[in-house]
Amino acid sequence: APLIARNTFRVPARAALLADVRSARGLAELFAFPRLRNTPVLVLGEGSNVLFAGDWPGLVLSLAMVDLRIVEDSGDAARVRAEAGVNWNDLVGWTLAHGLCGLENLALIPGTVGAAPIQNIGAYGVEVREFIEAVEAFDRLTGRIERLDNAACAFGYRDSIFKREPERWIVTAVELRLPRQRPLRMDYAGVREELAAMGVDMPRARAAHVAEAIARIRTRKLPNPALIGNAGSFFKNPVVPADVAGRLQAEHPALPAWPAGADGSHKLSAAWLIESCGWKGHREGDAGVAEQHALVLVNHGRATGAQILALARRIAQSVYDRYGIVLEAEPRILGAAPIHPPTETPV
Ligand code: FAD
Ligand code: EPU
Repeated sequence: APLIARNTFRVPARAALLADVRSARGLAELFAFPRLRNTPVLVLGEGSNVLFAGDWPGLVLSLAMVDLRIVEDSGDAARVRAEAGVNWNDLVGWTLAHGLCGLENLALIPGTVGAAPIQNIGAYGVEVREFIEAVEAFDRLTGRIERLDNAACAFGYRDSIFKREPERWIVTAVELRLPRQRPLRMDYAGVREELAAMGVDMPRARAAHVAEAIARIRTRKLPNPALIGNAGSFFKNPVVPADVAGRLQAEHPALPAWPAGADGSHKLSAAWLIESCGWKGHREGDAGVAEQHALVLVNHGRATGAQILALARRIAQSVYDRYGIVLEAEPRILGAAPIHPPTETPV
C-alpha cells in the first residue's frame, strides 16, 4: 500500500499491509492473530512526525476511533476523554468552545490526539503533559488496554515512555484535565505583540485570543505541509550542561539559550546553530531547508526520504564539527539507521 498521501513530508514509501482499526476492542482482536506476533507494526496518525527513509516491511495501523466527551465536570475544571483518531487542533477548538482552557498555546499543531502524548507535544511555553491525567494504551506485551497515569508516561521534552518503547504501546485514548480559568501564558516571544496587532488589549485577552494569535504566528513562521512537504522541526533543541552552555554563549553571544532544569543545564536553539552553518534556504535537488525556518527540512516535490535523511546527516555533522553539539532528530525515522552520533572529524 502506498504511504505518500499518509506522511506530511510527502515522500514515496510503501507498507506491506495497511489496516484501519475502529475500536480499542478491534485492536485486541487483531493482535490475537498469532501471525502478528512477529510482524513489525507501525501506528500512523496523520504522518506529521515521521520520515520514511525506506519502505515499511510490516503492518501500518490507522486508528479511526473518534469519540470525544466530558467525563466529569466539577464546575471549575473538567476531565475530557478523546480517542486517538480525533484531530488535535479540532480537540483544541472543541475544548475552548466548551469554556475549558489550557490547550490554547498548542493550537494548530498538526496530527492526532493519539500522537500527542508520544512526544509530549509542546509549543509557545506549554507542553501537553501539564494537562494529561491519563493515557489509555494497548500493551502488546500483555494484550490488554492499560491506563497509565501521568507519572507512568515518563514525559520529558519531546519524549515519553511511548516514544522510547514504540513496539510496545498503542495509544487508544487520552484523558485531559482542563480548568475553566487559568492565567494565560503569553511570555513566548511574539505572542503579546501578535495580540496587540489583533487589537486585543491585555486585560481583555481570553484563551481563544491566545489560540488565534499563536495560529497567526505559526502560519507565518512555518511552511504549510499542504503546500510543501515537511514535518515541523526536524531536530530537537539540544539540552547541554551549564558549563557547555556558558562556554558557547561566551563565544557566540547571539546564540539563544534557555535554562532547562534545576541542574543549570540549558536548551540551545538548534535553528540558530543550523542557520549559522549556512543551511537556511539551502537546496539539494528537491530536498532542502525551509526559507522561513532553519529547523524545518522540506520536500520541494520529488525528494525521497533517503535524500532528506542524507541532508539531515550533513547538517548534523556540520553543527557537530563547528560546535561539538550533537543534534538528535525529532521525527521518527523509519526504514534506516538513526542519524546520531556524528563521527569525529580530525581538525
Ligand atoms: P504521526 O506522524 O503519524 O506519528 C508520530 C509518531 O507517533 C510515530 O512514531 C507513530 O508511530 C507514533 N504514533 C502516532 N499515533 C500513535 C498511537 N495512537 N499510538 C502509538 N504510537 C503512535 N510537534 C510539537 O510538539 N510542537 C509543534 O509545535 C509542532 N509543530 C509542527 C508543525 C508542522 C508544520 C508539522 C508538520 C509538525 C509539527 N509538529 C509539532 C510535529 C507533529 O505535529 C506532532 O508530533 C504530532 O503529534 C504528530 O501527530 P501525527 O498524528 O501526525 O503522528
Ligand atoms: N531562529 C533562528 N533561525 C531560524 C529560526 C529561528 O536563529 O531560522 C532562532 C530564533 O531567533 C529564536 C529561536 O531560534 O530565538 C527559536 O525559534 P522558534 O521560536 O521558531 O522555536 P524553535 O525552537 O525553532 C520550538 C519547537 C517547535 C515549536 C516552537 C514554538 C522544538 C524542536 N521545536 O521551535 O515545535 O512550535 O518552539 O514553541 O522544540 C516541532 O516540534 O515540530 C515544532 C515545530
